[in-house]
Amino acid sequence: MAAVALAGESPASAEQRRKRLGQYFTGRRAAQLLAALAQTQRAGSVIDPMMGRGDMLMGTLEHGRPRLLGGIEIDPAVFAGGAARCQEAGVCTDALVLGSAFSPHTVGRLPTRAWDVVITNPPYVRYQRASGAAQPSVPSAAQLRGGLIATIEQSDALEREDRRLFCELARGYSGLADLAVPSWILCASLVRLGGTLAMLVPATWLSRDYAHPVRYLISRWFDVLCVVEDGDASWFPDALVRATLVVAQRIPRRPSAFQATPAEGYAHVRLTAGMGDGKSLVGATLAGRQDPDRAFADAVREWKAMAQAPSEHPLHPRWVPAAAERQELRRAAGRGAWLRALGESEAPAAEPSAPQPHAALAALCGSSGARCVSLQQLGWRVGQGLRTGANRFFYLDLLQAGEDRDRLRADARLAQAPLDVPPGLTRPVLRRQAELLPGLAVHPHHAGGRVLVLDGWALAEDLEGLPPQPYRPLDGRLAEHVRMAAQVDLGSEDRPRPIPRLSAVAPNARPFDPARPQRPARFWYQLPRLADRHLPSLLVARVNSAHPRTLVNVGRSTVIDANFSTLWPTPQATVDAYGLLAVLNSAWCVAEMELRATVLGGGALKLEAAHLRRLALPRLSNHEWRAAEQLGRRLAQAAPGRECVAVLADVDRLVLRAAGARAPARAAQRVRELAAEWLRRRST
Ligand SMILES: C[S@@+](CC[C@H](N)C(=O)[O-])C[C@H]1O[C@@H](n2cnc3c(N)ncnc32)[C@H](O)[C@@H]1O
Repeated sequence: MAAVALAGESPASAEQRRKRLGQYFTGRRAAQLLAALAQTQRAGSVIDPMMGRGDMLMGTLEHGRPRLLGGIEIDPAVFAGGAARCQEAGVCTDALVLGSAFSPHTVGRLPTRAWDVVITNPPYVRYQRASGAAQPSVPSAAQLRGGLIATIEQSDALEREDRRLFCELARGYSGLADLAVPSWILCASLVRLGGTLAMLVPATWLSRDYAHPVRYLISRWFDVLCVVEDGDASWFPDALVRATLVVAQRIPRRPSAFQATPAEGYAHVRLTAGMGDGKSLVGATLAGRQDPDRAFADAVREWKAMAQAPSEHPLHPRWVPAAAERQELRRAAGRGAWLRALGESEAPAAEPSAPQPHAALAALCGSSGARCVSLQQLGWRVGQGLRTGANRFFYLDLLQAGEDRDRLRADARLAQAPLDVPPGLTRPVLRRQAELLPGLAVHPHHAGGRVLVLDGWALAEDLEGLPPQPYRPLDGRLAEHVRMAAQVDLGSEDRPRPIPRLSAVAPNARPFDPARPQRPARFWYQLPRLADRHLPSLLVARVNSAHPRTLVNVGRSTVIDANFSTLWPTPQATVDAYGLLAVLNSAWCVAEMELRATVLGGGALKLEAAHLRRLALPRLSNHEWRAAEQLGRRLAQAAPGRECVAVLADVDRLVLRAAGARAPARAAQRVRELAAEWLRRRST
């Protein structure tokens, strides 16, 4: 999608402006569908506070003509285009305002500050990166937060206490968040009670840590109607990320964002290219209907009213109970200071509720959610592997293993000659999928990579002048290598950065503080202490072109990189790693992963820790778990191919029987076909 060029502006700087302001426009089909879901045809007033060239406003007009159509846009060129489209459509443009949506002055120029529908696709960009000189100039992070708070303070859609709490959220969101976080807060503050918030969001955005305040806001002030996903990244031909539509109704404030009644929840639909046609994203599936978007919206509202989704429906809707999500949010939001400011207690999360299997899967097996269990309920934790912040420095290739020295090769930008390093200073590391051997076990002696673990070592010059520190002096070639690496610039041309100053490396260093003499100094080349998630029992790649494959980290001896989601047991775990290895590789779990995880633009499946936490595993009896553990041990040793397939067939029968299937072998076949069908859809 080309950028709208200003008079005299080069295509390159128009493109830069587009990126800086997050100008990725929604397009007709997604805008029309979102407007239908938000029932804009019934609304008196509709606004897009970051209106771009007016796609959402045009989508709204497809369904009817609200009394008041409003918009705000910061970029004059884009604004002019949007205003012209509205004019052409015969709409009064008095409620279209050029300016920053985070200025109380701009918002004050709108005819109302409490709208029936707020519909938008906000900019998902980091304004921290914006250059002050570029035009149109964007507010700084501080101006933006200040403007947002001032705008909330004058909101007519919120009562006094709500305004106070919204301001706390605006004060509390992370300074690292992208522009979309304040945009969501702003949009939510413009929706009148009973009104609708309709947003387009990148599929993985809501699971980012910095988006927790947004999820919190939705849970406490909104009732989500539906989430509609771009299942195979087919909505936008040039999009790097997949989009999701979220539609929610503004309700009176809940006492807490973390509680939910059993009936609360929303419909989740994953659309794929084949379900749509040139005019509508659901046009092919609802072909007989006069307006497929409206027919879809009506169906969604019916499911919402019944608090369930039909198991047999061509759009494969899934009902997502709110309770599990809100508990997950409580866990994920943790002890954020902003939570206390919002009056939430820090009481431990209630016992997690049983997860529901995906409706399509449950329908195949005739099983219900009550028979399922989450990894957390089995006493397991899920996270992500090691992020070093500078792989070029911390990771090395093993050339030759020796008794007292390993011969290692550093990144070519850092050293040409091999380094001989005692094994105690490094650990085997699995860096990427390409390093995996066939089979389901990761053995340290197969690892071709080493990670520098210099916890107990420091350069002599760093220890000078300090009281005794618990480090041995680094010497020889490795010390020279570390000194030399400190001079290497790994930044970009416009942002030069020596390795020690890279944003994820600099926090490794901690100067000695005489006021706290018991805390040793730390240095940039010392990674934070390796945690469970870096030395997990099980791992699964985060980006998968084929079906996800869970592997066992034998002896928990290999460090696992952040390219993998990682799993490890707590002391309360009721199953061992081999039992889970078997069950997570069963057809049931592979299908759950296929159905739950996020499909990336190129068709790969992104399986994050958040997806794994929501996985619904059949509830096996103690006896069945012991059998699964045996099968898992066989699986870890099985030769890839026929032997492995034979063990997996036993695993499938065990798992599907536990899931309630009457004919487990036949059910396994159907589940495998379902998973294969989703793999085929995302790969084409
Ligand atoms: C992702 S685009 C989406 C535009 C439109 N909502 C749509 O759905 O097509 C986001 C828009 O927000 C605009 N924008 C960025 N910062 C803004 C601000 N502070 N106030 C108002 N608009 C802003 C960008 O110029 C861009 O047109």
